[in-house]
Amino acid sequence: MDFIQLRAQFPTLKQTLGGYPLCYLDTAATSQKPKQVLAAMTRYYENDNANVHRAAHQLSSRATTQYEAVRDNLLDFIHAKQREEIIFTHGTTESINLVAYGLTQHINAGDIILIDTSAHHANIVPWQELAKRTGAIIKPIPLTSEYRLDETAYDTLLQEKPAIVALNHVSNALGTLNPIHDLVARAKHAGALTLVDGAQAIAHLAVNVQTMGCDFYVFSAHKMYGPTGVGVLYGRIEILDTLTPLMTGGEMITSVSFDTTQFNTLPNRLEAGTPPIAEVIGLGAATDFIRQLPRVDIAKQEEQLLHYLHIQLRQMSDITLYGANDNNIGAVAFNLADEHHQDVAILLDQQGVAIRAGHHCAMPLMTSLGIRGCCRASIGIYTSKDDIDRFIKALESVKELLLD
Ligand code: ALA
Repeated sequence: MDFIQLRAQFPTLKQTLGGYPLCYLDTAATSQKPKQVLAAMTRYYENDNANVHRAAHQLSSRATTQYEAVRDNLLDFIHAKQREEIIFTHGTTESINLVAYGLTQHINAGDIILIDTSAHHANIVPWQELAKRTGAIIKPIPLTSEYRLDETAYDTLLQEKPAIVALNHVSNALGTLNPIHDLVARAKHAGALTLVDGAQAIAHLAVNVQTMGCDFYVFSAHKMYGPTGVGVLYGRIEILDTLTPLMTGGEMITSVSFDTTQFNTLPNRLEAGTPPIAEVIGLGAATDFIRQLPRVDIAKQEEQLLHYLHIQLRQMSDITLYGANDNNIGAVAFNLADEHHQDVAILLDQQGVAIRAGHHCAMPLMTSLGIRGCCRASIGIYTSKDDIDRFIKALESVKELLLD
């Protein structure tokens, strides 16, 4: 499949907005969806729509087979050890909440939880809630002046023997890539449990949770060309099996009486209620879609595009970039002089250019950068050099309008 054929798989990208062809640079917020993902979900609704794991009839059996096949698909996609380590959730946020709640019994007053300063709120707030329940102490891992996790400070914090270390694989706001294998290894050496937020990495990088060595790895389908409303919690079986379920109810039990309930085994124990069946099937189609593209080529194409985007922005006067010079994935954050990020985004939108502006669900990061927010342009496999050129041209005209 060449680039033109690949891009043609994404129907939304064909539209014009106010006479301008859509230039979609907000993939970090959500990616566009290829036809085969949409078709897989429609096929399920049109042919196989039934609940899973529950009924004796053929439709339910077909739905269950498809749903469980995606678990095997994901097992292979992230190289987990066994299928029970793959839990379907409604997204990254739920996955982290499930872990933070589930670990409550493991955490004591005074235990330390280390969190990346550039963490998304989804990888902060659930830990704060855990700290409230247990008396644990949250400590942020500072950033360097290069916007990277400060590894010296990290090592010093690890000497305090934290109970949990919560890291980004890739920062959603800045696009900085953490040396995650190394960071996880150091946390493990210090005796901590590790959770890695892979939401911004999974579409761009090949992930192997076993070589990474993390205890938990979490991501959402909608940032990897799949549907909204579904995500994955990977957990190392030994620790996953000890989590207290956040959600209880149907399907996560083996027996219920008014006196007591026996919980089911994994993975059902952590998947209470009717799951997002069509969305899980869509997620399976999204992994198939990614798999059919050579990973090395995706990474190279995106790296070149992001590099090109960085260079263009660095050459423009009155732009402040928030990000390291290299080792970035998918996104670049910036501000235009003292202009409000929202004004810049709205004026770009008037030329068909879609970016995100705001705090990017990373307020502590914005505070550490001394800003209230910024603009973020982010790319996916369908982004072309022409998109970047259009964005830069539009930004030049916004600059002219606002600064001249
Ligand atoms: N977490 C998504 C983003 O970074 C919504 O934009």
